[in-house]
Amino acid sequence: MNQQEKLHFADDVIEGLSASHRSIPCKYLYDERGSELFEGICDTEDYYVTRADIALHEAHRDEIAEAVGPNAHIIEFGSGAGIKIRIILEATHPRAYTPIEISGEALAQSVEALSEQFPDLEIRPLQADYTKPVPDEALTLDPPARHRVVYFPGSTISNFTHTEAHEFLTRMARIAGPGGGVLIGVDLIKPIERLERAYDDSDGVTAAFNTNLLRRLESDLDATLERDAFEHRAIYNEDRQRIEMHLVATRPTKIELDGKRFDFDTGDSIHTENSHKYSIEGFRALVKGTGLHPVTTWTDPDRLFSMHYLETDLTP
Ligand code: AVI
Repeated sequence: MNQQEKLHFADDVIEGLSASHRSIPCKYLYDERGSELFEGICDTEDYYVTRADIALHEAHRDEIAEAVGPNAHIIEFGSGAGIKIRIILEATHPRAYTPIEISGEALAQSVEALSEQFPDLEIRPLQADYTKPVPDEALTLDPPARHRVVYFPGSTISNFTHTEAHEFLTRMARIAGPGGGVLIGVDLIKPIERLERAYDDSDGVTAAFNTNLLRRLESDLDATLERDAFEHRAIYNEDRQRIEMHLVATRPTKIELDGKRFDFDTGDSIHTENSHKYSIEGFRALVKGTGLHPVTTWTDPDRLFSMHYLETDLTP
């Protein structure tokens, strides 16, 4: 983290802890250690999301390929080094593939691995933050592809509020452009016990992922706090149809940062992440007014996870 990033981080933490509902933006969960822990979560028995997403890709690869069509320019938000993008690239025979990824290292690794497996594929990596505007020149191909398809698996859309998700889908529609589409993974609503177990796994990996944020406050921001005075909690908020992750104080304690002091009573929490769950209809309703319309939706054989193919309404 450079000095500038640390200043932003500190400002965001101070703002979040000063509010009556205390929170810290979930992007700060994903430092190097946090990203490793997230990969660990994906391997746990209790976190079904990744396995279900892969099972969906395997079960519906031909139909997905048919929806995407040949000669597309596939633009992935995030760097796909894993099994899912391999299935997509193998099945769809795209004109080109652009992974957009903020981490140069992750991007280089994914390009290296994929160029070995797909030596004839034009890979046009773009090191950028996909939550920010992407310059269109960076995506222009000569000769052009038949159309663009933005690929966003894994249900990362779940970590956005509904308003953010709507805005994000609107941006995706603009990037896909006329005739283009969006292929997006969305986790489904399911019984509470299953959801809460997935976000508080019995191996304690999600707890380590969440409490890693406290370690970051100490090591990156020189905050003073008692790490063992907080514990991980994941609860499903039925009204808002989302898992909420919190760090909850187990005794009176405090966090000191930049000369400011934040006191916690037993039970006080810092809200660290939301993971929204959708029904198929609920997600289709969210898409309205984004410049996209639903075409096809698939689920994995256990109906835990969904993937939507959306087409843009945009005309040239
Ligand atoms: C990255 N994202 C889709 C994960 C999710 O399921 O919302 C993040 C996560 N947080 C805890 N476990 C998984």
